[in-house]
Amino acid sequence: MNKFEGRNYCIVTYGCQMNVHESEKIRGELTSLGMIETEDVNKAMVVVFNTCCVREGAEDRAYNNIIALQNLKAENPDLIIVVCGCMPQQRKGKYNLWEKLPFVDIILGTYNISELSEYLLQFAKKKHRIMEILDKPRKDMDVENAVRDDKINAYVNIIYGCNKFCTYCIVPYVRGREQSRNPVDIYNEVKDLVQNKGYKYITLLGQNVNSYGKDLPDPMSFSQLLTQLCRIEGDFKIKFMTSHPMDLGDDLIKVMKEEPKMAKFLHLPVQSGSDAVLSRMNRHYNIKHYMHIIKRCRRLMPTISISTDIIVGFPGETEKDFNKTLKLLKRVKYDQVFAFMYSKRSGTPAANFEDQISEPEKKTRINKLLRLQKIIQQEENKKYFKHSYNCLIKQQNGVAIGITDGGKEIYLPNYKYYNQNYFAYIKVENIRNHKLSGVIDEHK
Ligand code: SAH
Ligand code: SF4
Ligand code: F3S
Repeated sequence: MNKFEGRNYCIVTYGCQMNVHESEKIRGELTSLGMIETEDVNKAMVVVFNTCCVREGAEDRAYNNIIALQNLKAENPDLIIVVCGCMPQQRKGKYNLWEKLPFVDIILGTYNISELSEYLLQFAKKKHRIMEILDKPRKDMDVENAVRDDKINAYVNIIYGCNKFCTYCIVPYVRGREQSRNPVDIYNEVKDLVQNKGYKYITLLGQNVNSYGKDLPDPMSFSQLLTQLCRIEGDFKIKFMTSHPMDLGDDLIKVMKEEPKMAKFLHLPVQSGSDAVLSRMNRHYNIKHYMHIIKRCRRLMPTISISTDIIVGFPGETEKDFNKTLKLLKRVKYDQVFAFMYSKRSGTPAANFEDQISEPEKKTRINKLLRLQKIIQQEENKKYFKHSYNCLIKQQNGVAIGITDGGKEIYLPNYKYYNQNYFAYIKVENIRNHKLSGVIDEHK
């Protein structure tokens, strides 16, 4: 029996889906020591902060919450505090964690979490602070023992790192260069999740999934990987994120259309509606190209759900540039928009650009954009009327409900007895107060 067995742990997660999934791997590590999860830091013997540094807000939140544990540590010297994720990976970050947080016992990089249990045992024995930060994934990282949060949707890594170097973004500096995971490992993991663990959605993860496979000893494309995964038997669907508009080719759109197992959902970050801003962001596409992809997707898959990320107030963004972003939202009519105020990240080129936009101006712009998007989304509800959507049927608070690939809820008021967690087409018959309801479409 080790010192950790039967004791509690708590994980605090910030950032993107990649981090959410990495926290599931951290849970796997702690479970392997016989530990039990708690939400209450006061009960925990081990507290893990899985951090993000993509924007200042996320970074400050994590930092302040770690600092807040200092008192708890003083009261309970047995408490072990671990900080991992993207903050420790920064070379020129705002915070030097090792020096500024002397009460933190273990600091790990994003590619070191698979050894967390060993570091904890080592720390328990020697009581020496530990810091280990790798710059790229080790080959054997593919042996995964994630204990997942969700029972319906499972995240699966397919590619680590990013080669794009958008001028605002810290990710390539903290996650290193692109490294694709072996397709056989991915296939086996997806097969196990679907056939032995009952997962209905598999979400393939990467900062830029379209680059998948280029670096493999036997190169393959992302669409080829998807085609292979769609051959796995079972009632499940595949999603992926995130795509970069520069590399999203017709082959991917074709697979999405033709394979019934491909979810009709695309998260395609545009960042700005202005070509001049896109060029300064180093995004390598213009709005004409972006609209070509959107139109093609909508033509081939009329019920597809599309979402995006937008940065407002990028250095040098004029009122005119910003208005082009608003115009783009009106043209595309996204199902969902994730909007962020530009945040200066030291170490990235844009942090040194002239014409930084003031915080109040960024706030004014983001509020304007969010107001517009709200109106668009409410009007867009109409597009569902009389159309059929392949949905996952679930029970929610005693009523039957279908969830589209894009996450939209459609109520099934006439279905009292039903199975759960299977896919069926629902035809939308009614829209009231922005709520959709419908019936199972037997003709599909
Ligand atoms: N690889 C993905 C996601 C990267 S981070 C992609 O390329 O889309 C998620 C989002 O955070 C980005 O799409 C961008 O909109 C936003 N983001 C990244 N850096 C930012 C910064 N410095 N300030 C504000 N938002 C930022
Ligand atoms: Fe950041 Fe751009 Fe890479 Fe996305 S593609 S992670 S925004 S550098
Ligand atoms: Fe944040 Fe790291 Fe993801 S910086 S957005 S947690 S890759």
